[in-house]
Amino acid sequence: MINFEGKTVLVTGGGGGIGRGIAETFAAYRAQVVVAELKQERADAVRAALEAAKAEHMVLRIDVRQQAQVNELIKQIENRFGKLDVLVNNVGTASPPKLFELTTDEDWDFDYQINLRHMFVVTRAAIPLIRKTGAGGSIINLSSIEAFRGIPLMTVYGAFKAAVIGFTQSLALELGHEGIRVNAIAPETTESEAIQPSKWVRPEDRGAIASAIPLGRFGTPADAAGCAIFLASELSAWVTGTTIHLDGGALAAAGWHRMANGVWTNAPVISKGALHIGRGTRK
Ligand SMILES: NC(=O)c1ccc[n+]([C@@H]2O[C@H](COP(=O)([O-])OP(=O)(O)OC[C@H]3O[C@@H](n4cnc5c(N)ncnc54)[C@H](O)[C@@H]3O)[C@@H](O)[C@H]2O)c1
Repeated sequence: MINFEGKTVLVTGGGGGIGRGIAETFAAYRAQVVVAELKQERADAVRAALEAAKAEHMVLRIDVRQQAQVNELIKQIENRFGKLDVLVNNVGTASPPKLFELTTDEDWDFDYQINLRHMFVVTRAAIPLIRKTGAGGSIINLSSIEAFRGIPLMTVYGAFKAAVIGFTQSLALELGHEGIRVNAIAPETTESEAIQPSKWVRPEDRGAIASAIPLGRFGTPADAAGCAIFLASELSAWVTGTTIHLDGGALAAAGWHRMANGVWTNAPVISKGALHIGRGTRK
């Protein structure tokens, strides 16, 4: 039986998308759930959902890029719960597609702040509180499947998502002797606030999804939550410094596509549908 009763779980960006799915799933497994969320309306919505689920919870509207706000968050968790068992570093976003040669210093800084630096800020502040849990603490970082393959016109985002994997591996070495595990989840396209294939892909084009994703669909927040529950629980007691490719088999397929007639090709002829990324040029 998986049960997080008495365990405290912090989910950054838990007001929407994958983060909210993770927060609500931990609540269903009886955890004490703390959500750090930037947007007031999303903070209010997840608070209402956690209340309705009768979960012990604390939802704070904060920007995890801000050191002072993160320190206050950790202080409030300590005052209320005394320790932190699970940290889910979920905040992250893909910046708009652009040719790398057209990206600005400001673009790089934005990507760094939102995809990597906050993980440093939150994790550094949280480690003393996780240590109070003793063996069994778990840190889970949201990377992307794009850390393991290229992504057109989002080179800087891809670079920082790959850096999340490096951060995960090295931190796992530092904390392993204390029984604190550090792992990552690398999702393929997943329905969320930011990414909405259900709206973006026309019904007549949906058959094409199965050509690149062997399990035949894009991901859901519940898929990510399943991985987070595993990585936070005793079921993964001997798992650290690694990454779950949460991708329906997309990475295994790599450049292979299964056509409607069941034949596989590495030279697809699909001209529309799925998620298209433009030329990324102002020229
Ligand atoms: N959805 C996908 O297809 C996909 C694919 C690969 C990786 N990921 C990764 O998964 C994670 C979650 O993605 P998502 O699609 O659910 O994102 P999302 O934008 O739908 O949700 C992120 C949540 O974080 C909040 N947030 C943003 N900045 C914040 C900040 N500074 N402080 C506190 N909260 C903040 C947002 O308001 C939002 O509620 C990200 O790290 C993303 O890069 C997502």
